[in-house]
Amino acid sequence: MIFHKVTSLKGEVTIPGDKSISHRAVMFGSLAEGTTEVTNFLQGADCLSTISCFRKLGIEIENTPDRILIHGKGLHGLSEPTDTLDTGNSGTTTRLISGILAGQPFTTVLNGDASIQTRPMKRIITPLSMMGADITSLKGNDCAPLRICGSQLHGITYQSPVASAQVKSCVLLAGLYADAPTSVAEPILSRNHTELMLTGFGAKVTSSGTTATIEPEPDLKGMKIEIPGDISSAAYFIAAGLIIPNSEILVKNVGINPTRDGILRVAKEMGGDITILNEKISGGEPTCDLLVRSSSLKGVTVGGEIIPTLIDEIPMIAVMACFAEGTTIIKDAQELKVKESNRIDTVVTNLKAMGAHIEATDDGMIIEGGYPLHGAVIDSHLDHRIAMSFAVGALGADGETTIEGADCVKISYPEFYESLKSLIQQ
Ligand code: S3P
Repeated sequence: MIFHKVTSLKGEVTIPGDKSISHRAVMFGSLAEGTTEVTNFLQGADCLSTISCFRKLGIEIENTPDRILIHGKGLHGLSEPTDTLDTGNSGTTTRLISGILAGQPFTTVLNGDASIQTRPMKRIITPLSMMGADITSLKGNDCAPLRICGSQLHGITYQSPVASAQVKSCVLLAGLYADAPTSVAEPILSRNHTELMLTGFGAKVTSSGTTATIEPEPDLKGMKIEIPGDISSAAYFIAAGLIIPNSEILVKNVGINPTRDGILRVAKEMGGDITILNEKISGGEPTCDLLVRSSSLKGVTVGGEIIPTLIDEIPMIAVMACFAEGTTIIKDAQELKVKESNRIDTVVTNLKAMGAHIEATDDGMIIEGGYPLHGAVIDSHLDHRIAMSFAVGALGADGETTIEGADCVKISYPEFYESLKSLIQQ
């Protein structure tokens, strides 16, 4: 797909449903008794992988344009699938469902696409095995495909070496089936959608600092959930509004859970003109609209406790930093190496191709901003967040930019290019 520099972006965009929360609504709704009705569900390929896995586990899920209905069968209502569960490109599906499958009285094999087959699964194999689970990486490389033979699980207290909501959620979900309470402590608090939503379904989950604890065998009851817009998807429009001159964008329906809002804090620290409007609670999560105007940005240091709250937005922050005066340092972000692509490599290589002054470090990158970007051929590595971040960067770069594998945005934001193009002023 080809992009050229634009002179102004104006208008409004409504952000589709949050990917993390959409996955959880399907999973927890499947484990609840009765029907769960979900509105503003994200119809991205990752969330459709979750639906397809739970259908194969015997759950009826109606997916219509207005809402999805999940006819849950309770904590012990899943049935043995007849073939391998395909988790597609989705790390969230793979890791969270593994926690659930570890406690079932049957065996499942999980596999996904080429990217999923390189993503680290030892981070869930270790705690699940401590709980008594029987989980094997079939190629012996600690990646998918995984075989999970259900077992009686034991409650544990797990000190996670990584701040990962996927690891935390996997262990808490296994804890639903354990013989005693299960606790997960993280080095830094990661997104807490599992804790919030499971509580809404009737589970007993307590959080204290960076530790979450779950009681086993709750009665989960179906409920209505309205999914807030995904701040990770909003990030592209926040950045676009700030870096393209003469721009004013109203970004509507943005979830601003404090475990996810690091992009707002960083964009404001960079000097971004962002106004929060219409704050309300939607689906148990704070949401708002954001009015974003072109701004003169300055470089910042991003590291430490804020990293888990913006981990998926770092490619966009790196592009934004090229349009800022001064140096931006991104550190403590080693996790970027194990996302849908190695995002330290894919960001740095592609930004260098556009003429950016950027260097990779072991845990992030250093960017000297203020040097104009020029068009280039960008390899998305089929990573949706790389494709979207560089589409935005291309609108501020001289000449022509080609994004290869641009279609991969269907993973989290199928309408992304239409929404972006609708803002371009001729
Ligand atoms: C997610 C958690 C994050 C994030 C991913 C979605 C989730 O991963 O990068 O896109 O829904 O729990 P980690 O928890 O592994 O950092």
